[in-house]
Amino acid sequence: MLEEGKAKIEVFNGVFYNPYARLSRDIGVSFLNAASEFLSRKLNICEPLSATGIRGIRYVLECDRVQKIILNDKSEVAYENILYNIKINNLTKIYEVHNKDAIILLYEHSHKGERFDLIDIDPFGSPMKFIMPAISSIVHKGFLAVTATDTAALCGVAKRAGLRKYLANLEKTEFLHEVGIRALASAIIRIAAINEIALEPIYSHSTRHYMRIYFRVYVSTSKCDSILENIGFLFYCENCLWRGYTKGIIYKDYLICPICNNKNLIIGPIWLDKIVNKEVATLMKKFSNDYSKNLIQKLFDEAEMPPFFYEMDKITSKLKISELSLNFVIEKLRNMGYVACRTHFSNKGIKTNADIITIKNILTK
Ligand SMILES: C[S@@+](CC[C@H](N)C(=O)[O-])C[C@H]1O[C@@H](n2cnc3c(N)ncnc32)[C@H](O)[C@@H]1O
Ligand SMILES: [Zn+2]
Repeated sequence: MLEEGKAKIEVFNGVFYNPYARLSRDIGVSFLNAASEFLSRKLNICEPLSATGIRGIRYVLECDRVQKIILNDKSEVAYENILYNIKINNLTKIYEVHNKDAIILLYEHSHKGERFDLIDIDPFGSPMKFIMPAISSIVHKGFLAVTATDTAALCGVAKRAGLRKYLANLEKTEFLHEVGIRALASAIIRIAAINEIALEPIYSHSTRHYMRIYFRVYVSTSKCDSILENIGFLFYCENCLWRGYTKGIIYKDYLICPICNNKNLIIGPIWLDKIVNKEVATLMKKFSNDYSKNLIQKLFDEAEMPPFFYEMDKITSKLKISELSLNFVIEKLRNMGYVACRTHFSNKGIKTNADIITIKNILTK
């Protein structure tokens, strides 16, 4: 028997359970509590890829504002496992358990009165095939939580897979996990826009082997149009580490690096606006626990920061100088009037609005 949060679970043979995904579930619990405050009511939830049921069971045990939850897995043994775990946790009758394909289950709930306030998509690999049915089954101003574990495709390591699954040209950069989250957000937003549903990323993190984004859902064409304006291209110079970006689906600037005339890498289309909303980040702090509070604090700190961080050891190795303390560089930048902070993406990374020339000057002087 395993314990996690307020839940205890048994893992049946052949059913998936990853103890390292605990932080993802802790953040999920905090987000659910925050989401119920946003809606000021109890929530109807669906976790269509449940495995042992641990995530959904924790949602019920650790948030007292769950109206109803549907758990589901297409594997028969997982289905039996969910029923067993619900029983040993003495859950009250607010759950339903199914043994269906998630896509069918979600479309069965795509009618008025049947839709959910929050759907949590937590698959193996890419979540893309579940996005269309999920967004059809969420109420206006509801929430969609999505995990992706195919980080090689999202970070430009498996380029063909990135193009196939996320319709984007992705390259390996010093801030590859941030590019990954932004590529994932962009692909999901565009799938939703086809259905005239606007998705706004309001909280996201990249941890270990997975990326996770929480979206607010709006059934609004005008909101779709304004959201799509924040998708565009990133230009990155591998020679001098300069970066720039332009919003919009057509790019014409920055094919060449404005500093060293090197040919830039062109990355996109990706999401270029905020990936953490400050108001949500503030609420999340209220619902953190001992495991999640570190990450929740970091996400709060970087909520208002510009996109794409600088990896200090990449810059110092380019300059052939020894590494400087991150705190020193951050302090220096702040004294010069820039915003600067650490990032959860990398323990060598700094987020700032200073440009690469300013940073190199600080490092060399
Ligand atoms: C990564 S696991 C879910 C982990 C779980 N959410 C947790 O936090 O522990 C993915 C699950 O999705 C199930 N699955 C995969 N494809 C599915 C589909 N099309 N419909 C329903 N379940 C599916 C698998 O059987 C597996 O149990
Ligand atoms: Zn350059």
